[in-house]
Amino acid sequence: MGERVRVNEVGLRDGLQNQPRTVPLEGKLAMFDALAAAGLRSFEVTSFVSPKAVPQMADATELFGRLPPANGMNYEALIPNLKGYERAVDAGAKTISLVLAATDSFNRKNINMSLDETIAVCTAVFERARRDGIKPRAYISVATACPFEGPTPPQVVFELAARMFDCGAEDVIVADSIGAGNPAQITHLFGTLAGRYGAARLAGHFHDTRGLGLALTWAALECGIRSFDSSIGGLGGCPFAPGATGNLATEDLVFMLEESGFETGIDMAALRAAVAVAEAEVGQTLGGRIMTWYRSQERRQQAEPRRA
Ligand code: COA
Ligand code: ZN
Repeated sequence: MGERVRVNEVGLRDGLQNQPRTVPLEGKLAMFDALAAAGLRSFEVTSFVSPKAVPQMADATELFGRLPPANGMNYEALIPNLKGYERAVDAGAKTISLVLAATDSFNRKNINMSLDETIAVCTAVFERARRDGIKPRAYISVATACPFEGPTPPQVVFELAARMFDCGAEDVIVADSIGAGNPAQITHLFGTLAGRYGAARLAGHFHDTRGLGLALTWAALECGIRSFDSSIGGLGGCPFAPGATGNLATEDLVFMLEESGFETGIDMAALRAAVAVAEAEVGQTLGGRIMTWYRSQERRQQAEPRRA
């Protein structure tokens, strides 16, 4: 048996938040069902943010209410503030992720708070989460570069990770939100953080903007990281981050991991069926790089004369 890697599907949140067409509740549930049928057991289901800021996530409470019982499933909710925390917990979330950006400019654009204000919010929310028995996670977004401030000094990420662990985060997700990182940077970031806090408390969140999503993942895997976010069909992008394109596609991540001997518990054929469901819901052709290869294989098989 290969070593287990946790794949956290963020297509329903990071994937859909930037779509011009708001996928209705039933469509989100159809995507969820197809992904769960493929073996996905961890989901960032939605975000409890202002519906004015992100109308695509306005149905967060209803969506949580329609999910099957958590039985072995991990349902996470992204939140920006205490109000989001309360809404998420009322809806039944047992794991919440707070998002803070490595730069002040991005933080203001994304959640209209300074970094110091956000750190104060994290402290208050994590304190509540500890009392309520809720698992708190923290995203450090724009960890390699910011669309407004350019390259992010690694020291900033290290300081923020220390603050987040100090104020009660159980784990920290390092997010290359605009896909601007390179593998050497990721090795430096995760190598240092894993040395300080242990790889088990860290996760990676990558975008495939420049085609390096898998290379960044591999760099993190070599630092011992075994937990990654990805998005079905490579859906994604942040409405507040100019230039951000799709997340690393779940099918690319799963293909690479399984081919390399890791175990994900995810079935590739069923995952490809989930890509088709997501395509129908967003009304676009989707698919990570591996889908191009699968499609060409299928065309070849169809073109070959049938053997008796
Ligand atoms: N959920 C729902 N509504 C919320 C909310 C939340 N978590 N937090 C605030 N609101 C509401 C307030 O009640 C208020 O409503 P009203 O206008 O009807 O009175 C309105 O939003 C503005 O509240 P305010 O505290 O002044 O917030 P703001 O306008 O400064 O916006 C955020 C701050 C954080 C709420 C908003 O920027 C946001 O939701 N950002 C999310 C961005 C995101 O999801 N990015 C992608 C993920 S990385
Ligand atoms: Zn993202």
